[in-house]
Amino acid sequence: MAEHLDIPAGNKEQIYQALLPQIKALIGEETDTIANMANVAAALKQAFGFFWVGFYLVKDDQLVLGPFQGPVACTRIRYGKGVCGTAWKEEKIILVQDVNKFPGHIACSSESKSEIVVPLFHSKRPVAVLDVDSDRPNDFNETDAKYLEAICRLL
Ligand code: SME
Repeated sequence: MAEHLDIPAGNKEQIYQALLPQIKALIGEETDTIANMANVAAALKQAFGFFWVGFYLVKDDQLVLGPFQGPVACTRIRYGKGVCGTAWKEEKIILVQDVNKFPGHIACSSESKSEIVVPLFHSKRPVAVLDVDSDRPNDFNETDAKYLEAICRLL
């Protein structure tokens, strides 16, 4: 497909609905996960203007920074640490409305105010997480959880 995104004006639900098939088409037959993660991070950043969008990959006993869009970020996160390490350990989506209230939150940037982390699975084992940060508090809800999970399933 053409490397172009058509982002409608509208609410979050409408933007995600328009984005999902386009991301599906963008991935297409491509089997290289890093390349696909790079485009997913770019598409989410372009569609919503999130402060930071990126992936951390499970490598041995740590998460290691993968494809992302946004300011430079911490390279490694230990199992169970921060929002990302917690999503990895608990194998579930973690939605944080106010990062200052999340015990052990890892502040890569003081501008990040709310965050959602979605684990990715391969053969039922967590292999990566998608981390999305906003510079506004309370910027994520169940709509983000639903669609980001659907997007991660395409990878
Ligand atoms: N805040 C994350 C760390 C990653 S950065 O936000 C990019 C955490 O607490 O796991």
